[in-house]
Amino acid sequence: MSVPATQRAVVVEEIGGPEVLQFKSDWAVPQPTEGQVLVKNEISGINYIDTYFRTGLYPSPKPEVLGREAAGTVVALGPKTEEFNLKVGDRVIWLANAGYAEYSAVPAAKTLKLPDTVSYEDATASFMSGLTVLALARETYTVQPGDWVLLHAAAGGAGFLMTQLLKHVGAKVIGTAGGPEKVELVKSLGADHVIDYRSEEGKDWVKTVMDITGGRGVDVVYDSVGKDTWEGSLAVVKRKGTIVWFGNSSGPIPPLPLNRLAPKCIRIARPTLFGYIATREEFEGYANELFSLLTSGALKVKIHGLYSLSNVKQAHIVSSFFHR
Ligand SMILES: NC(=O)c1ccc[n+]([C@@H]2O[C@H](COP(=O)([O-])OP(=O)(O)OC[C@H]3O[C@@H](n4cnc5c(N)ncnc54)[C@H](OP(=O)(O)O)[C@@H]3O)[C@@H](O)[C@H]2O)c1
Repeated sequence: MSVPATQRAVVVEEIGGPEVLQFKSDWAVPQPTEGQVLVKNEISGINYIDTYFRTGLYPSPKPEVLGREAAGTVVALGPKTEEFNLKVGDRVIWLANAGYAEYSAVPAAKTLKLPDTVSYEDATASFMSGLTVLALARETYTVQPGDWVLLHAAAGGAGFLMTQLLKHVGAKVIGTAGGPEKVELVKSLGADHVIDYRSEEGKDWVKTVMDITGGRGVDVVYDSVGKDTWEGSLAVVKRKGTIVWFGNSSGPIPPLPLNRLAPKCIRIARPTLFGYIATREEFEGYANELFSLLTSGALKVKIHGLYSLSNVKQAHIVSSFFHR
């Protein structure tokens, strides 16, 4: 397969707002080194984590091509990739770095063949978020049928999939979302109660959650909002319950003295997806489960919008609007 020397890519040279995303049409196409494959990307995913690298919340060397996942076709194999059973022409999805580009050289270990039943669009719209919610619901805390679960940001990228997964497992779900449209969306996914945290009554969501659970509190809170919700999450978790903090959408939570956990004997986890998919076996296990949930229709995806590479800046602007 012929591969050009240069390509279109979106590059960040210094940290900042969406304006630092620079579209370039002469960025070098990388050569796959040992353990890497070169993928011609069809669609790259935009994730909230991209904004952390853009703004410097998560430090990373610059210049940098952002983008943690993409789906496309393998166009070249680097040395020592045989064990991953990939060949030129395979439809694949990958999880690595530098996805806002036409071509990415990515670890074969983090590249998987896509089943024919899963489109590039659905795969990219659900891969990172889908693997995350599976790991959070299976390993960080193992959700049981009948558990009361509070899920913040239930209409977001991760929340949309998590709501469906929790209902699939048989949990009782209380979701929070901002505004009537998002409330309706989360209800349509089967959530048992949805609180509009922006409404007057939703502002007192702690009381609402305690009322719904008869004063007992929830078995587990999944909180990716952070700064604005952490106190409330501590208040609504039951005695011996678990809080899973997995994001900072409203900003990081302040340092938390461990003795705050003592009165209710609660557990707190601060997981990242990458810690759960470090081995090929773990990565394939979660990915295959995700593909089968997508194929069976148990998980539906939501594509917020499709943007050309030259318009990534606009996608980040729109995405920051939705995060307000
Ligand atoms: N730990 C990991 O491995 C991992 C992996 C994937 C994602 N994440 C994290 O998960 C989070 C969600 O990611 P995503 O891609 O699903 O993002 P997303 O779709 O943009 O969801 C973010 C949502 O958070 C809600 N939100 C923001 N500020 C809020 C506030 N002050 N109070 C209440 N809700 C607020 C908003 O919900 P409304 O629109 O309803 O207002 C917003 O849409 C991010 O923090 C991301 O970093 C972590």
